[in-house]
Amino acid sequence: MATEQDLMEKIVSLAKRRGFIFPSSEIYGGINGFWDYGPLGVELKRNIKDAWWHDVVRSRDNIVGLDCSIIMNPKVWEASGHVVNFNDPLVDCKQCKARFRADHVYLVGYSPTPVPPSLFEEVPAENRRLKREMEAELVKAISQADKIRIEREFDELMTVNDQRLRPVLQKTVSATTPQEAVAAARLTNRQAKQIGNLPVSYVFPLTVLKRPEGGVWSRAFPRPDCPACGVPEALTDARKFNMMFKTFVGAMEDSSAQAYLRPETAQGIFANYANVLDTSRLKIPFGIAQIGKAFRNEINPRNYTFRSREFEQMEIEFFCHPSEADKWYAYWRDARFKWYVDHGLKSDKLHLRDHEKDELAHYARACADVEYAFPFGLAELEGIANRTDFDLKAHADASGRDMTYFDDQTKERYVPYVIEPSGGVDRAALAFLCEAYEEDEAPDEKGNPQRRTVLRFHPRLAPIKVAVFPLVRKDGMPEKAHAIWEACREHFAAFYDEKGAVGRRYRRQDEAGTPFCVTVDGQTAQDGTVTVRDRDSMQQVRVPAEGVLAYVRERLHL
Ligand code: GAP
Repeated sequence: MATEQDLMEKIVSLAKRRGFIFPSSEIYGGINGFWDYGPLGVELKRNIKDAWWHDVVRSRDNIVGLDCSIIMNPKVWEASGHVVNFNDPLVDCKQCKARFRADHVYLVGYSPTPVPPSLFEEVPAENRRLKREMEAELVKAISQADKIRIEREFDELMTVNDQRLRPVLQKTVSATTPQEAVAAARLTNRQAKQIGNLPVSYVFPLTVLKRPEGGVWSRAFPRPDCPACGVPEALTDARKFNMMFKTFVGAMEDSSAQAYLRPETAQGIFANYANVLDTSRLKIPFGIAQIGKAFRNEINPRNYTFRSREFEQMEIEFFCHPSEADKWYAYWRDARFKWYVDHGLKSDKLHLRDHEKDELAHYARACADVEYAFPFGLAELEGIANRTDFDLKAHADASGRDMTYFDDQTKERYVPYVIEPSGGVDRAALAFLCEAYEEDEAPDEKGNPQRRTVLRFHPRLAPIKVAVFPLVRKDGMPEKAHAIWEACREHFAAFYDEKGAVGRRYRRQDEAGTPFCVTVDGQTAQDGTVTVRDRDSMQQVRVPAEGVLAYVRERLHL
């Protein structure tokens, strides 16, 4: 049976081979964390964005769209807190100059209950030996699947051998100082999840946590060796690294001209909240939606397009009365989860995870993640948060502009609360791609079963809806097929192909996820019918050539 890593490799290879996703600037060796979408990928992404826009903007009477500039006045990012808080902790190797995220080399043990400081000294020798062996194996393990297997085996061994060590190893957090470690250990599920995704060679070169003042449950470990060159004591203390990309506006390249590429689309919405309110007839509750690029200088982009440095977001800021915020939060949390199910993600692979209270950002009252079981693990597709009045108040304070809302019926003036469903287009595309991927068997021209790769996309998302073939390039078949293709492509993405054996043409369309293939054959000249082949059942039916458009539209709900 294929491992999850095999599966991911197959998906990445198919995506490259069939023109869904290419490494950016590949002819120059690529650039880490940046990806390009090819002809099929761009259609998939467009379909995702169109479906989202239709469902959250066009089909609702209280949500409008917005398209803000990517570079905004830097004061936006000061007011939002990004200049001060949008940080990752980094360590450098003084010897080989390699740079790592601190939480990739410094693992912090955390236990929900006090643990004696001597705990690690008490670990039986047998366990220490097993742990060393596992670390050695982990460094060698090249795949995520191997890593997960080794960790699971280790976990099982630890449970058998030393119950006391388990809680310490279960939860790991990032930290630059002992104080931060204590704080971070308290808000950690998300970070623990991130650590689960680390490149293996960085994960276990071991554990540093100085004992925090007054703390009882954590203790000091030696500074780890550099994960790259192995030199001891070469790593610097961790320092904060802001993840916003910087640029300069105008001819001067000094601090007065410095600006940022936006790390999220949300702040553009808050900055335009009053403009939209003044120019529309919207009344609370209402939402503003935006799709656009965001940029984050992630230290370790990973898991294919999942964590990129340039990506697209689909965000709604939904403004409501504070007393109704809980109701709207519950509404959006469920609506956004359902949206992914409706578009083909199986509910047993989707998970709606409510953040624990101690995981929430200080301004947020509630937050939930829609998570998907990717081949590399369960990971976030979209977050839904109750951001309270934090953002509008922050921008009102910093800009001096009035961000209140006046209800002319109740005569009440207040700063609205905001519910924010915030999703990633690239992550959605990756999830739909992973979900759609399947291998089965299909008969070849001689009726012999052959392995087939098929992308079972939801019809709304399929990059091409129908492909039209002439069986052979003669007897008027290409002309007839061309006419059907022309009729279809007026309405949806259609593809014409006359090269190669028809079985291979079917196979190519299966790999592209095309729901229907139409073939003009010898019988067409006699009775005016063509075959329509269904991607999933591989059944073929004869349909009048003139009826193909209606047949496809009806079945795809287009
Ligand atoms: N305005 C809130 C916000 O930006 P976030 O959880 O940081 O929240 C929202 O990002 C969504 O954007 C995520 O759920 C994910 O789908 C997408 N996203 C965030 N960082 C990403 C990255 N480095 N690569 C790809 N998508 C990312």
